[in-house]
Formats: sequence, C-alpha cells, structure tokens
Amino acid sequence: MPNLPHSWILETSRTAYALGLDADGRLVNFYWGARLPHATDYPADFASAGWASFNDAGQLAREEYPAESGLKYIEPCFKAHHADGVRDTVLRFDKAEQTGGDLTIHLVDEQENLGIVLRYRAHAAYDLIERWAEITNLGETAVTLERALSAQWHLPRARDYRLSHLHGRWADEFNLTREPLANGVKVLESRRITSSHHASPWFAVDGGVADEDRGEVWFGALAWSGNWKFIAETTDFGMTRLSLGLNDWDFSWQLNPGETFRTPPVLSGYTATGFGEASRRLHDYIRDRVLPNGKALRKVLYNSWEATYFDVDEASQTALAELAAGMGVELFVMDDGWFHGRNHDRAGLGDWWCDAVKFPHGLTPLIERVNALGMDFGLWVEPEMVNPDSDLYRAHPDWVIHFPKRARSEARNQLILNFARPDVQAYILEKLDRLLAENNIRFIKWDMNRNASEPGWETAPGDPRELWVRYTQGVYRVWGALRERHPQVTWQSCSGGGGRADLGILKLADQVWVSDNTEPTARLGIQEGYSQVFPASTMEAWVTDMGPAYLPLEFRMHVSMCGALGIGGHLVRWGAEKRAEAAGWIARYKEVRPIVQFGDLYRLRSAQQDSFSAVQYVSKDKQEAVLLAFRTHQPLVPHPEAQPPIYPRGLDPGANYRIDGQSGVRSGLAWMQIGINLYLADYQSAMLRIRQV
Ligand code: DGJ
Repeated sequence: MPNLPHSWILETSRTAYALGLDADGRLVNFYWGARLPHATDYPADFASAGWASFNDAGQLAREEYPAESGLKYIEPCFKAHHADGVRDTVLRFDKAEQTGGDLTIHLVDEQENLGIVLRYRAHAAYDLIERWAEITNLGETAVTLERALSAQWHLPRARDYRLSHLHGRWADEFNLTREPLANGVKVLESRRITSSHHASPWFAVDGGVADEDRGEVWFGALAWSGNWKFIAETTDFGMTRLSLGLNDWDFSWQLNPGETFRTPPVLSGYTATGFGEASRRLHDYIRDRVLPNGKALRKVLYNSWEATYFDVDEASQTALAELAAGMGVELFVMDDGWFHGRNHDRAGLGDWWCDAVKFPHGLTPLIERVNALGMDFGLWVEPEMVNPDSDLYRAHPDWVIHFPKRARSEARNQLILNFARPDVQAYILEKLDRLLAENNIRFIKWDMNRNASEPGWETAPGDPRELWVRYTQGVYRVWGALRERHPQVTWQSCSGGGGRADLGILKLADQVWVSDNTEPTARLGIQEGYSQVFPASTMEAWVTDMGPAYLPLEFRMHVSMCGALGIGGHLVRWGAEKRAEAAGWIARYKEVRPIVQFGDLYRLRSAQQDSFSAVQYVSKDKQEAVLLAFRTHQPLVPHPEAQPPIYPRGLDPGANYRIDGQSGVRSGLAWMQIGINLYLADYQSAMLRIRQV
C-alpha cells in the first residue's frame, strides 16, 4: 500500500518503523514496534502541542533528528554555531526518496545554509534498521558543529522502562546492568579515544519484564571506535527518548562551505521475544554484514603472551610452537617483545622491525618453522603507540598527542601517536605494510594500551578538537589500507583486552581479545556480557594458567570453547599429560566449532547472576546443538535436587533429539519443556551435544 505523501514506513520481516511530518512540518516518529498487517495500520500523525508558556511543541514532538532551537529543552541530536553567532538550527522538511528499504530524508535549516540528510536502511532479514546523518554546509561561511549524534529514537509513551547496558574496567569488562529509567537523563559515554572497557556503545531497553526469551526489547549499537555518547532521557511528560552517536564532549568540527560531515551509523532493532533474540539478530548481522570474512571459521590459536611475556626469542617461540602444533593448534601468534629494543614495557614501541638480538636472522626462520609445523604465523603490534625510549620518538617527538607547553602523561610508559595526522598515518602504514610484505604473516593482533590525555594538536588544519574524530578515522584508514593490501591476514582488535570492541572496528577486525582477565570463572561473566552484542566467532578465548590451580583443565577448556578457542598457557610447563588432555579438547572443539561460531546463541542460565550457568549454540538448520554448563562454587552442601534443570532452547519442537548423557529420545519441544538434569560439583563443567535423530 502506498505511503501517505509525508509519511514513510520501513518494514523488516517482523518489525516496522514509521515516521512522517507532524502538523507543524517537523519530522517525527509515529511508530517503532512489531510489523503490522496493513500500511494503514500504522499511525500517520502525531499531535505535538505546546504546554503552558514554558515549552513549545518541540518539547513533546517525537523528532527524528531534533536540532537545538526554540523553546524545547530536550537533548537534541544536533547543535551548530553559525558564523553570524546564531546557535540555533531550525530544520524544515525539504524532500524524501524511498527505494525499497532505503529511505533518505532531506532537511534544511530555514536560512538554507545547512542541509541535513537522514539516511535509513532497513535490513529486512535481520530485523534491523541502520541510520546515519550527513550534514552539509550549503552556505558561504564555515559552520562549527558542536553536537552531531547519529540518531534519536522514541519509545511508546508512558511505560516504566528499564535500561540494560554494559560497563566495566580493565580486566573486568562487559558487566551487564539493568536499571530503571527514571525522570531525567542517563548518560553513558567514552571520552577515552576508544570505545573503552568502561562502557559499550550498545543499549537495550525493555518495559521492566523482559527476559532472555520473552518481552519487548528495543536495542541499538553504534559503529564507532572512538568517543561516543548514549543519552536516555525521560521527560516530565512521560516520554522516553534514546540518542546515540559521537560524543559532543570536547567535540568541535569546522564544516567549510560545500563540505559534508557524515556521522557513524547506528543500528537499531525491536523484538517481542526478549534479550536473547535481540542478541541473535545482532550476531547474524555482524557475521553476515559487518565482518569482512564473517563466514570463515576462526582458527585455534596459540598466543605467547602469558607464557613468555617480553622474553621472546627464536628458541623460546620455537619450543612453544612445536608443542602447540602437537596439540592441534592451527595458528601460532607471537605477542609483545619481538621488535627493536623491546625487552620490557619501557622501550621500543614505534620501532616496528624485529629485534636483532632476539632474532639475529630476522623472523623468517621462526615463521618457516611454524609453517613447517603446519601452522600459520601471527604477530602482535601496537601501531598507535610510542615509547619515549624509541627511535621513532627521538626523531618525531611532535608526533604524539600533546599540548606543547605541558607535561605529557605517560601510561605504561607510552604516549599516543596522533593518528589524525596524515604523516603519522603514512609512516605507520609504510612500516606495517613492509612487515607484512616481507614476512609470511597471517594474523595480526592490533593492540592499544592506554587512553588519551592532553588532547592537543598544534598543527591541526581546523579546530584541534577535531582530533577525537580524525584520530579514529586515521586508525580506520591505516588499518583499512593494510587489510586491502594484505587480504591473507586475519586481524584481532585488542585494547588491553576488550577496550575496543564495537561495530566499527569489526569492519576491520575479524576477532576481539575480550579481556586480559583469563581466569575462567571471571571469564564466564565477561563472555556473557560480550555476547549481548557480538557473536562467538569474534570472541577470542584462551586457556591460560591464570587462576587457582584447582580449576580443572576441562573447566578451563570448556569456558574457552564458548568462543574462538585459543591456548595461552606455558606449554613447556604443562607437561606431556596435560598437553595430551588439551589436545583431546581441541579435537572436540573442532567438531563443534561450526555450531559455536555460526550457530544461534541461547544464554540458558546467567553466569553474571548465578554460580550455575549454561549457554547453548544451535546450528541454523537445528540439526545439532551444543550445550555448555558450568558450576563455579556451591555455597550450600551439594545436593542434586538443589540444582535446577537446564532448559534447552532453539530446538525444532517437532523433531526428535538425543542429548549426551540423557536417556531416551524426545521431541525438541519435550526437551525444552522438561529440561535436563545435570549435576555439577564445584568447578565442574559439561559439554553436551544435542543431535536430531
Ligand atoms: C595487552 C594485551 O591485552 C595482552 O594480551 C598482551 O598483548 C599485552 N598487551 C602485551 O603488551
């Protein structure tokens, strides 16, 4: 059915988003929820009235992209400073085009010096809608942008909403909190130059009653790896609006005549079937549309960091590689410590050629040995960083982010190269390009171990505060060029663990180092938080020696088998028996890996909430599933009855299944209704395969 001339409907398989002009010509949201049978079912008008003399109608309007103007005091998406001193932007509708799932709406400022194009793209199969804004200076003088978010969303009115968000810190990432949204503003953000360990640019909002399987959830995520801001505002009029985009803290952008500023895209979705479904939609979309090689199986890797730290050399790495190959590892990654002068964390960053003392014959002998063992070779780099004790810094002390007349705060003895600068980008690109061209490297771990301070940029062509955005663009540019030139390389995003996990970096990185905390009981919770947004194929998980010795290897392996399995322990010290056991687990992982990495994830019992947790992965054709269950610590005297059943999910209700360790064949519906009883003692775990018969 045709849309009304000034209203538009974006439909996905199961959801819909309707917007249009209100009586005063504002672009407002009419609807965001389940797809309705007829186009005429969607509301097509919305009365935005003023209230008393203290607000104009804009205060109540459900504007899609509100700009700072008039008597409205809500959080806007946009604020600019015009050359004549005007700081309002009064947007009116100009025109729109809709082709299938793509909708473009052109807004212009009443003075016609600024145009804002809102782009919407419905990803029907994923039930997601992507949005971004393009701001163009149509005038003759520069305009300064002071806020340019990607989108604002409006929830159905008058409900008690609850916000779910992820937060944490180094080695303690992805804690999930659900909290009521009360009147006022709740802000989540990063001011750190990365998306950060401390908060994630993702949200899920529900009516307070949703769980993994049930209830309405509105959710969204930003594709940006730098400073960002999320605002949930509940007004005195009982309206809840959510905004997400670039952080406006210390943000400024000089937009010259004819130039366009494009905001990063945001993705949003609605589901009536709980948080689990919200995650699965993001997982599918990320695997299919964001990741460059989303359909490639992630290899079992070995990483040297926790075994040898900075003490790497040809002999130590060869010894580890030989043992790793014997266990079935497919990719050997040498971590920090391999490059010029890098004997500790006080020197070397910036000098990206191999250390002549540790590798007198270069990297080639080691790489050839690793390849001869049947494994790919990977390497660690931290391209955005420099130690003051490095040749690079001695030659270019002005290349770091700094205020010229102030002290430069070091963290882990390092400073940040100003990736906003084209000369810095060119230098790093050349060095890494050469490294990849001269060596058979198939995997790069791109690390980033501190956050920004003293954000100066003396030679900035525009406002120095553009640094925050241009830095991230610079990282994308260098990384993107390297990816293009070296398509054989798989990339990992690491920022001291999970400090840079977002939908922006996943266009470049195939997988993420989720946390430096590899203690398995802590890891269970971190992995669960990470899984709210990201698929298991991107979740690199190593088995190391961290944590109490009484944690069984089986438990450690099972925890890491929930993602892209890796090994990071000291294999020489492991001994033959432990290595043989690990080899068995690696073989078992390889059997279930396609289901774990590409299947649908169900969080059956929460590790962040309970000492008895479980996750399940179901193949897309529902032929097979894998269930992993964990018991950390039982505060009570263990008794089988004290442990509740685990209810599998996602099976074909009408098909028959057999489950490892459970007697009989039952329908999928029966298993999901009745559940399975699994008694686990302290620090015991289980992996059950579920197969159609
Ligand atoms: C931080 C990373 O998260 C670790 O895995 C390791 O690569 C170190 N950096 C090396 O310095």
